[in-house]
Amino acid sequence: MPEAANANFANNLEAFWMPFTANRQFKANPRMFVGAKDMHYTTADGRQILDGTAGLWCVNAGHGRPRIVKAVQDQVAEMDYAPAFQMGHPKAFELAARLSALMPQGLDHVFFTNSGSESVDTALKIALAYQRAIGQGTRTRLIGRERGYHGVGFGGISVGGIVKNRAVFGPLLAGTDHIRHTHDPARNAFTRDEPEHGAELADDLERLVALHDASTIAAVIVEPVAGSTGVLIPPKGYLKRLREICDRHGILLIFDEVITGFGRLGRGFATEYFDVVPDLMTTAKGLTNATVPMGAVMASKTIYDAFMDGPENMIELFHGYTYSGHPVAAAAGLATLDEYKEEGLFERADELAPYWADGIHSLKGAPHVIDLRNLGLIGGIELESIPGKPTARAFDAFLRCYDAGVLIRTTGDIIALSPPLIISKGQIDQIIDTIGTVLKEVA
Ligand SMILES: Cc1ncc(COP(=O)(O)O)c(C=O)c1O
Repeated sequence: MPEAANANFANNLEAFWMPFTANRQFKANPRMFVGAKDMHYTTADGRQILDGTAGLWCVNAGHGRPRIVKAVQDQVAEMDYAPAFQMGHPKAFELAARLSALMPQGLDHVFFTNSGSESVDTALKIALAYQRAIGQGTRTRLIGRERGYHGVGFGGISVGGIVKNRAVFGPLLAGTDHIRHTHDPARNAFTRDEPEHGAELADDLERLVALHDASTIAAVIVEPVAGSTGVLIPPKGYLKRLREICDRHGILLIFDEVITGFGRLGRGFATEYFDVVPDLMTTAKGLTNATVPMGAVMASKTIYDAFMDGPENMIELFHGYTYSGHPVAAAAGLATLDEYKEEGLFERADELAPYWADGIHSLKGAPHVIDLRNLGLIGGIELESIPGKPTARAFDAFLRCYDAGVLIRTTGDIIALSPPLIISKGQIDQIIDTIGTVLKEVA
């Protein structure tokens, strides 16, 4: 294939169509990271940027942890790949067993994927196939929640509830519906931790049961804490109530723990934090500390056993990915679990959470701030939008924070924060001070 002899590929930004990015804005003013260690990124122009977002909610143990780096290097050299279908390798089994040991009792089987989006589509497919396997084949409807984010596969955007992620992609998956979201600033603005009001919003599932009939509904999927929509903390009692309604009607409950998993709430998983056990759980991101892409769906024994039927030489579930349980990802996952344990990072997040909450809520009264939300090491800072220019103010804040040496993330006009669990109190102060200063500068 001919390549232009004098082409300067290194400096050509045009070819890469960047995901979830304002491509033209970026390419006019690129923000390039070239290195990462612990709590910081290094930019192409040699600046240190404090990571207030753990990459994309995924580098929970901090960057470049030697244990994980070495495990990945060793595994690539030892065995680069093993076929995922009809063959196995020890690390995938070990990782599955260790993940299952971290789960509440009963949630003990693991299906590997490569991302949160794949985990979601896998969980939805398992839910449908399970209902059919137990003779409930009329249950084909999948229920999500308004403002939910479940990745970008067709299943995920169909049950997802973020308008921009759905609007231009046609009719999506047939037979989905959505319960109401839980955002209620009129009653809950500036609440520390879980909001008092809104457990009754779970009853919205009863509305859909009344509308569609329970016999048509396979599963409900929710993020225990909604992240990508801009940090919505579930009202006290909400998730328990959702669980009860699902139980009453034979509907499977799926927790999408892609961002809440692996210590984000100061516990292994949100299921532990809220003491509510789902039937299926999706994970990704922190599973490998984002070193190598990997996702996992946890399924209850009841669900797994329902498939273990028929002739023993038959494939039980016609689903899987070339890279399911990839050896390098499995090695990264094992080393990541070691890192969390040996460094006590889930406990550390729990200890830091009150200081983090103090920091977030110290921004009350700062210009443009109309709500502050927190849980574990998650923070949400909602700004009033500039009339007629939604997202502009938060994006301006994002750019200014970056110039000031702090990486934040924005969605709509909400700043969403989720630092690595190794963050120090001084670094929490730096994030909060920088945002406080920037809010005085933005239009
Ligand atoms: C709750 C949730 N589910 C699914 C996903 C999708 O994950 P991925 O981008 O790895 O496909 C995300 C990503 O942010 C998420 O927050």
